[in-house]
Amino acid sequence: MTQALNTVQVSALPNLYPGFVHFSLRSLVQGSRSPCTLRLEAYSSASQRLRLVVAQEAGSRLEDDWLARLLQAGIHHGYIAQDDLDRFQEYLRSQASRLLASAPQDSELQYCLIYEQALCALKGAMLEPRNGRRLASGVATVRQLLDLAWRDDRARQGLLKVMTRDGRLAKHCLNVCLLGLGVARDQGWTRQETENLGLALFFHDLGLAEQPGGADCSLLEPTAAEPGLRQHPQLSGDFLGAVPDLAPEVVETVCNHHEYLDGSGYPQGLKAPALSRGARLARIVDYYETATAGRGDCQGLSPFEALLRLGQEMKDQVDQELLQALVRFLGNV
Ligand SMILES: [Fe+2]
Ligand SMILES: [Fe+2]
Repeated sequence: MTQALNTVQVSALPNLYPGFVHFSLRSLVQGSRSPCTLRLEAYSSASQRLRLVVAQEAGSRLEDDWLARLLQAGIHHGYIAQDDLDRFQEYLRSQASRLLASAPQDSELQYCLIYEQALCALKGAMLEPRNGRRLASGVATVRQLLDLAWRDDRARQGLLKVMTRDGRLAKHCLNVCLLGLGVARDQGWTRQETENLGLALFFHDLGLAEQPGGADCSLLEPTAAEPGLRQHPQLSGDFLGAVPDLAPEVVETVCNHHEYLDGSGYPQGLKAPALSRGARLARIVDYYETATAGRGDCQGLSPFEALLRLGQEMKDQVDQELLQALVRFLGNV
């Protein structure tokens, strides 16, 4: 069972809406103007299948009751065209700054906007993992998250509280990054060490982004990993070559994020002496997020079950001191 989660398989489900990425409706601010055309998934009785329909044109006012009605009906996600990703990210950034200027105290909406903005930056990087400008935007995003996570506990915990989990690739990477930043900060790592870890975790699965579905593809488990997918840590590291002045520790952590202390990991089967503290913590938070995230209709493990597995069945595979650090961090959230 533990070996199973050492593997990763990208969903074989077809990408239903090529050219579109999905977003959370909670990132829309009531009364604001839609930054781009927003689409919702709807069932067409004529074609007897789901399809995207335009729900708001670019520039239209997002009425309060429109959003409330959708959320009440259990509709939480919409779709935007990939080409609109930058525009949508800018909308989130400006709404977050406006909110901060008018109500500088922490608020859930503020953290939601920051979380969704970071997700847009990551989706942009995953859309074009060889594009230096996209990767640079991701680096800037991690530094902003670190600024926030560094300055006070409330911000660190606020971001974790708005985290949503559905097993999709970009969301998984952002969640793992936020967990890692929190644990490293709590453990007294230096700011540079924490930043290096955050960057590594943000980009750790970039090598999976060229799979069908891209940033929105689902990571399924357990199954036997395809040999090609076992190279994704190395591929992620290679993509990061497009980022100038990146510390070698970042690439080392990315390349070794699936390695276990007893040599049972991949791609190289490295053992404890060859694994840095960053790579060890990456393995733990990556495992934890993967195990606890749901996958469509499939529920993940409870946090308790996932931590128990890491501490018992996997006690020879993962660093138990760092595991305790994760347990303490989660206990404070
Ligand atoms: Fe991975
Ligand atoms: Fe991962």
